[in-house]
Amino acid sequence: MSIFLRPSLTFWTHLRSLMLDVSGASKHRKIWLHGSSLKRPFMRQPCAPALVLRLMSDASDIILRPARAVQGLVRIPGDKSISHRYAMLATIAGGTSRFHNFSAARDCASTLGCIAQLGGVWRRAETDGATEVVGIGPALKAPAAALDCGNSGSTMRMLSGILAGQSFTSELFGDESLSRRPMARIIKPLSEMGATISSSDDGRPPLKIRGGHLRAIHYKPEVASAQVKSCVLFAGLFAGGETTVEEPIRTRDHGELALQAFGADVEHHGTTARIRGGQRLSAIEAHVPGDLSSAAFFLCAAALFPGSHLSLPGILMNPTRARLLDLLVMMGLKISVTQIEQHHGELIGAIDARGATWKGGTIAGADTAALIDEIPVLAAIAPYSEDGLEVRDAKELRVKESDRIAAVAANLRKMGAEVEERPDGLRVPGHQRLRGAELDSFGDHRIAMAFAVTALRAEGETLIRHADAAGVSYPAFFDELRTVAQI
Ligand code: S3P
Repeated sequence: MSIFLRPSLTFWTHLRSLMLDVSGASKHRKIWLHGSSLKRPFMRQPCAPALVLRLMSDASDIILRPARAVQGLVRIPGDKSISHRYAMLATIAGGTSRFHNFSAARDCASTLGCIAQLGGVWRRAETDGATEVVGIGPALKAPAAALDCGNSGSTMRMLSGILAGQSFTSELFGDESLSRRPMARIIKPLSEMGATISSSDDGRPPLKIRGGHLRAIHYKPEVASAQVKSCVLFAGLFAGGETTVEEPIRTRDHGELALQAFGADVEHHGTTARIRGGQRLSAIEAHVPGDLSSAAFFLCAAALFPGSHLSLPGILMNPTRARLLDLLVMMGLKISVTQIEQHHGELIGAIDARGATWKGGTIAGADTAALIDEIPVLAAIAPYSEDGLEVRDAKELRVKESDRIAAVAANLRKMGAEVEERPDGLRVPGHQRLRGAELDSFGDHRIAMAFAVTALRAEGETLIRHADAAGVSYPAFFDELRTVAQI
């Protein structure tokens, strides 16, 4: 594998000066994590009995007690954003694609479920566990029933780009949370390209898409969204001429890299991406890098305790996602990255992280877009920082799986924290002591995991209601947390 570093990634400039030695132990605290999902015996760290199973009245609730550090190795499952895109493109490609470390997320299962309804075939290979997708080419089969996107905005938004180019009508629906999420952002460009789309009030799901011949457009989305960009580029494959997306702020480029991996000619520089219609895709064999947004929960847990030391091999280092590492380093986590490789345009590296003093800081502007999925956990641990955290320009957080600004503020307040909620962000002062409390995940995977991390440094027990929401992106999260949490 070749090593490929993109000079724009400021994270790399920090690497040389990173320190790995950390001394000083945090106060000894008892750590317990109870939960219904904790069925696995301690496998990797038999000496760290940090968690105890206790079934709550509602089996989806979980109880956590404080820890004194997190230590060990965590193998993070495949990146959700990449897995969605690989599965969708493999379906419209020729040949059988094979994906190693495909995401275990419930969201990606929603994508695979829709693909099966559209005539695609996917299976897990018995030999090596790879996820195989048998491509049926650009013309999909009309589904017999409406497509269930579950909780997954990515499935609904990106698949719509492909459905807009089909010669049939399809319907897409989702769960209660997805039914509240804005779809006008994809309805507008796809309608301009020639698809006929109806939705419920105010551009919310369910969607009904009558596809057909599409025309190329030059689209300038109002919101910075990689899902919208991928949706339009995927539709661009079915359009006559060249489709261009010009974003207000650069977003993750997994769609462009995946299209290239499947053999499409895609140009992308800075905030502009272009694709020519009518290109045929060919199957690939690929390794999906570990999801950096899932790794973020463990990295934030390490940041809470000077005695922490975690190894996270095989993590996605794509520069459009790795701003998180810059920020964690700036805020005090000691990180080194080794074994850097490139697979189908995506960078992968092994992260070694040690906790030190957690400083806090500000997230605003382009950083907010780059860190949109990690802000909940960064804000949830901010009370333990020296300087606190200010988050600005983040009103998109209000239309995620939950209103994440309101959810973080509500849970922090229940733990006794002072927090200022603003229309487009939060201000969380530092140097606060939190106490365990009864919290809600608000049915949102990232809120459930963020507050499991926060609970590790709170005083007393924390109960998280509906913690099973974590499975939307990371079904084994609580099992993994149990293996690394030290009492
Ligand atoms: C994603 C893009 C982001 C992110 C989501 C996944 C993607 O959403 O929050 O979890 O895979 O492109 P937006 O496109 O709405 O910003």
